[in-house]
Amino acid sequence: MEKDNLQLREFLKSSEWVNKDQLNIPKDQGEKRPPAIKEYDDQTPLLKLPGIEDIDLKISFLKDLLKNRKSRRKYNNESLDKKELSYLLWATQGLRDSNIRLRTVPSGGAVHPFETYIYLNKIKGLKKGLYRYIFDEHALIYLRDISDHKNKIIEASNGQKFVSEAAAVFFWTVIPKRGEWKYGPLSHKLAALDAGHLCQNLYLAVESIGAGTCAVDAYNQIKADQFLQVDGDEEFVIYMAPVGKIDD
Ligand SMILES: Cc1cc2nc3c(=O)[nH]c(=O)nc-3n(C[C@H](O)[C@H](O)[C@H](O)COP(=O)(O)O)c2cc1C
Repeated sequence: MEKDNLQLREFLKSSEWVNKDQLNIPKDQGEKRPPAIKEYDDQTPLLKLPGIEDIDLKISFLKDLLKNRKSRRKYNNESLDKKELSYLLWATQGLRDSNIRLRTVPSGGAVHPFETYIYLNKIKGLKKGLYRYIFDEHALIYLRDISDHKNKIIEASNGQKFVSEAAAVFFWTVIPKRGEWKYGPLSHKLAALDAGHLCQNLYLAVESIGAGTCAVDAYNQIKADQFLQVDGDEEFVIYMAPVGKIDD
């Protein structure tokens, strides 16, 4: 069983991005794109839904956030302040009341298998460096400064330069044991689904402070794990997201 879990953990890693050219991916072989919509009988009547503009909402800002959300890869030079940083950390992994299982994101079985590391590049009042978020205290721990951090972030993100230009870079790791303890080999799919929730919360939260983000899965697993100094087996990077202020 232990061995099965180790194999299943591999599916949560991004190790193969560095070998993408050798993977015989249909698109790269010139194969036609599959249809984006599953076919349906064109004789079936379409029950048109009311337009989004016509919906009465008690609070409408979520609609605006959903509408404006997009992956943003261009950030300006502005710093984030501590309140904004605090909000983003809370929105992605914070507590929503005093129970440590109840957070701002859902998680299958309330396992919450993630840890948040964040490289702070431009935050008013905080020195540059790598930090870890301690969700139950809603606090940061300063881990270390990283020399030549810009190039190391580019390497960790597999050459995606825009990541290194952000005011802050989220690195989420997974600690698979938390889920395996409760659900064994069923836990890995849950962890993959959970990761989507936290990044989507980040997408929405950044929009509300005039900032932008972009989900990053095509990172370099080994370099990203080295950047955080995590062991790559019991804890490893599962997802990254740069955040910066935007002009538009
Ligand atoms: C799981 C996941 C992984 C992604 N990885 C990357 C990435 O490594 N680099 C990148 O530039 N964009 C990445 N994206 C962003 C997608 O390219 C983007 O969501 C998609 O093109 C649709 O654009 P939109 O988010 O603006 O709607 C990722 C998105 C998701 C959801």
